[in-house]
Amino acid sequence: MTLAVREATREDIPSLCALENECFSLPWSEESFGEFFDNDCSRVLVAEADGRICGYVGMYLILGEGEITNLAVSGEYRRCGVATALLDRLASLDGVERLLLDVRVSNTAARALYEKCGFKVDGLRRGFYSKPREDGLLMSREIEK
Ligand SMILES: CC(C)(COP(=O)(O)OP(=O)(O)OC[C@H]1O[C@@H](n2cnc3c(N)ncnc32)[C@H](O)[C@@H]1OP(=O)(O)O)[C@@H](O)C(=O)NCCC(=O)NCCS
Repeated sequence: MTLAVREATREDIPSLCALENECFSLPWSEESFGEFFDNDCSRVLVAEADGRICGYVGMYLILGEGEITNLAVSGEYRRCGVATALLDRLASLDGVERLLLDVRVSNTAARALYEKCGFKVDGLRRGFYSKPREDGLLMSREIEK
């Protein structure tokens, strides 16, 4: 598999929606992505495997703090290092001093990924998620460059 990570463009929105629909119970719509791309603080990266989009990550970058909004990898491409490559590239972007995110407590795959990538648990947000209602863990990673 040849993996490449690049910045996303609006033309990628249909592929991003397909990933959202595959991976989340409350997927972002095309309209949500349109508003996300409109925001000067947003950054979106996509991973392509053999020329096909197989994963993506999005964040808001404000005053050095990158808040990850979404991270998803298509089922057939998981456990191949795609999410790790996306997070590494995100961390290397100009101006990123710290990354933070929320993750469902039951999401053992994502929690294992974040821990392996150097994120630490900062706190618990009770009832943070819906569909199904669930607590969220707040995690962060300091970026040294
Ligand atoms: C979580 C997710 C993004 C991981 O993507 P991925 O590309 O498979 O992750 P990587 O291949 O980079 O995994 C890196 C490490 O994370 C851990 N990890 C990833 N998936 C795991 C799983 N299902 N079970 C246990 N550990 C896992 C492992 O330590 C793995 O290293 P290894 O494969 O050498 O053991 C992917 O499973 C996904 O899209 N899930 C659905 C959407 C989601 O939950 N997004 C996160 C929302 S906060």
